[in-house]
Amino acid sequence: VDPLVCFAVKANSNLSILRLVTDQGAGLDIVSGGELLRAERLQISGEKIVFSGVGKTAGEMRQALRYRGTGIFSFNVESLSELELLNQVAKQLGVRATVALRFNPDVDAHTHPYVSTGLRENKFGIPYSEVLAAVRGVAAGKYRHLRLQGISLHIGSQLTSLSPLASAFGHLDQLVRVIEGYLPGQIQFVDVGGGLGIAYRDKDEGRTPTIERYCRLLVRHFGPASSLCKDLGRSLRIVLEPGRLIAGNAGVLVTQVLYVKDRVLKGAQRRFLVVDAGMNDLIRPSLYESYHELLPLIQAKTHKKQRVDVVGPVCETGDWFARGRLMPASIQKGDSLALLSAGAYGFSMSSNYNTRPRPAEVLVDKGAVRCVRPREKVEELLAAEEVGV
Ligand code: LLP
Repeated sequence: VDPLVCFAVKANSNLSILRLVTDQGAGLDIVSGGELLRAERLQISGEKIVFSGVGKTAGEMRQALRYRGTGIFSFNVESLSELELLNQVAKQLGVRATVALRFNPDVDAHTHPYVSTGLRENKFGIPYSEVLAAVRGVAAGKYRHLRLQGISLHIGSQLTSLSPLASAFGHLDQLVRVIEGYLPGQIQFVDVGGGLGIAYRDKDEGRTPTIERYCRLLVRHFGPASSLCKDLGRSLRIVLEPGRLIAGNAGVLVTQVLYVKDRVLKGAQRRFLVVDAGMNDLIRPSLYESYHELLPLIQAKTHKKQRVDVVGPVCETGDWFARGRLMPASIQKGDSLALLSAGAYGFSMSSNYNTRPRPAEVLVDKGAVRCVRPREKVEELLAAEEVGV
């Protein structure tokens, strides 16, 4: 069976982007009823949807169980209590839910602590002993409205080395073998999550793991010729949930310099470029101190460079995009800058903090330029609010 690639909607949920990736055959990895509605809007087959997340509500479960009359490919269940609830909800609806248990392999992904998900101390997934408890429950006929067909994992995001994945896949292989003892023939797929990192810095270009190496690793562990599949006597379907890798380097945030502020600090010249985009538009630097290349959209008049802090207009000291960055000294008020690698977890994490309407989203596809979400208007933000008495 072909692998199933489910784009992680959370990375970039604009319907036009989802249309582009699903037109290429991809399915979707969703984490909320809202993301499922996006899938429905695009009439994505339920056979291509996986539902992850530690906090699925009963309402979201009902929505996914009824999705287009067929339900979805897999609920990636993250706790035993979720398993209980899903079983009850499926019973009420008179259906059977297809389930994967999300396994927490207790592997350090060596990434920013906020995007590490595969350590025992993280809230995600189910530890080994509890997975086995659930499997024993299934074998004892405890969850009659569930069909356990897969094991999933996702150990973290922006992984710049394959070795944590290799070790997680090794644990997954062992787990599937153990489960086979309890439920022979039942596990049909392994969902290996997403997480492949991208180059945010020019100098890291070519240093992140390639898709080829990643696929070789996957095939070695779970491909039809893997020792696991040979020992099971059947092949396993591989499900993937890439997000950042697909969308990250396909998007930029364009902003304009509003002011140049110079200051002398301990005898050193310090320059702030105040731009019109803020942490509400792209929160990654503020939240993870992450690095985004900044491209001045000007013809540098001189080669002289200067260290600058690029900051937004939001009333937070954490509202910055770059600190101490070398930029052409000739940048002035009115110039535009592009923040690169903003295609994943950019707009999808944006907010209206400071009552700031969010920018337009523009799709550039083979030279055609199309606005796929207009700039928000402040009036729209206020429309649903009531003026108290
Ligand atoms: N599958 C699951 C279950 C996930 O939790 C995630 C991401 C993905 C797939 C996709 O991971 P990717 O291939 O994009 O690494 N806001 C953070 C990243 C949060 C990732 C959350 N989960 C950032 O901007 O770095």
